[in-house]
Amino acid sequence: MELKELAKLAVDVRKNAYAPYSKFHVGAALLTADGKVYTGVNIESASYTPTCCAERTAFAKAVSEGERNFVAIAVAGGFMDKEAEYCYPCGVCRQVMVEFCNPKTFKVIMAKTGEEFKEHLLDEILPYSFGPSDLA
Ligand code: THU
Repeated sequence: MELKELAKLAVDVRKNAYAPYSKFHVGAALLTADGKVYTGVNIESASYTPTCCAERTAFAKAVSEGERNFVAIAVAGGFMDKEAEYCYPCGVCRQVMVEFCNPKTFKVIMAKTGEEFKEHLLDEILPYSFGPSDLA
């Protein structure tokens, strides 16, 4: 799958975000090594703390289906009534990515649209990470 298709899936799934408190709607699309895509949206809570970001929703769906090998995630987020901006994953989500993905190869795509997106390696947005190999 091309990265622009993954970006478009993240943009499209945003419509399902449950974000009545922040009004900041985020969609994510996580690509597995064998070409499957798991999408996710942010799911907020009236008590705030249980809020789950779109990226972690996508990882929870994929990991609970037995997936362990990932190549990229696309993220699209912002206020629905404002012009699109690039939405970078929060620190907690970056840490979850490190749990399952090789920081030197896993791509993180920040999408405004299916055509307009930025691309980073996970290692670039979470350098000097602490991960599974530190506990091996
Ligand atoms: N959020 C995400 O879903 N992903 C991010 O990368 C940044 C933040 C959500 C959490 C919360 O529902 C809202 O955006 C505002 O922080």
